[in-house]
Amino acid sequence: MQTLKILVTSQKGGVGKSTIAANLAAFFRKSKNLATTLIDFDPHGSSSSWVNRSAPLGVVVQHHPLPVNLGKKRALLEGRTHLRHASQASAVVVADLTWTDATDEEILYDYDLVLTPVSLSAIEVAATITFLHRLHWVFDTTTRLAPQLVICPSRVDDPALIEPLFTQQRFPISFLLAPPILTSAEARNLFEKGYLIDLPDGAGRSFVSFAQAVADAGQRQVQRRAQAPKTPRINDIQQTHGASDVLNRFMKQQNTRTTQASQPRPTPASTLRPAPPAVKQGFLDRLFGKE
Ligand SMILES: Nc1ncnc2c1ncn2[C@@H]1O[C@H](COP(=O)(O)OP(=O)(O)OP(=O)(O)O)[C@@H](O)[C@H]1O
Ligand SMILES: [Mg+2]
Repeated sequence: MQTLKILVTSQKGGVGKSTIAANLAAFFRKSKNLATTLIDFDPHGSSSSWVNRSAPLGVVVQHHPLPVNLGKKRALLEGRTHLRHASQASAVVVADLTWTDATDEEILYDYDLVLTPVSLSAIEVAATITFLHRLHWVFDTTTRLAPQLVICPSRVDDPALIEPLFTQQRFPISFLLAPPILTSAEARNLFEKGYLIDLPDGAGRSFVSFAQAVADAGQRQVQRRAQAPKTPRINDIQQTHGASDVLNRFMKQQNTRTTQASQPRPTPASTLRPAPPAVKQGFLDRLFGKE
């Protein structure tokens, strides 16, 4: 089963990561009827408590704050382990993570989509550009499948502001721009009570359009992942290259030597006698001028 893996992340606080993560999980479970897991990597646990305390939808909720104090690699490994377990049981995994300087960029490669919410103020867009600039090498990767970056305008009052903000700024990276999620007082009060998909107002409708766009982008990325060539392993390299390959010849020689060495050989008669001290003798002869 191909699991769609979505990471909602940003270094900025209060941009709507947990709102988007909790409500996307609800969308995939309720509107798409897909087995969905929400992994909340944040110590605050906002998205996990949102889904845990609202009327049950059948979303599997996991709260695993990453042990960033134990180092980048440890946090990366724990994040990977949780994602792997969640992916085994779900068609969609949505993860909520506040990015810090202790987050390993490698974690991004584990996901199909990386969603970065941004509200429509010049200062916030500029901060997001700085954040994404540091990660541009991940999204620009050509040697392995890069995750798809999706910028998500969130808490939008006036959709007309989007175009000037995103066309006048120079983004250092290519991205998909998701449809905006409109702001509403009801949306703010939904925490632990219900979901944006059930709101009958503009914010509710905008969230459904947003979530559908994310689902479409996710489907394309999962297909890309299925078609992407596997990262070659050393054995695959041997198979694809011809017998003249230097590494192949070296490995063949090594194998032959190892096989020869491991075969029991009859003990030669000479080894039964003490070996003549040929080198030593020569050395002494030379030392005493006998040569
Ligand atoms: N569409 C919306 N309309 C109105 N308010 C919203 C909307 N989306 C989010 N908010 C509000 O914005 C605030 C920040 O949202 P949220 O907690 O989801 O952000 P966050 O990025 O997860 O924050 P943190 O960095 O603290 O984890 C909350 O008060 C939330 O209710
Ligand atoms: Mg949050």
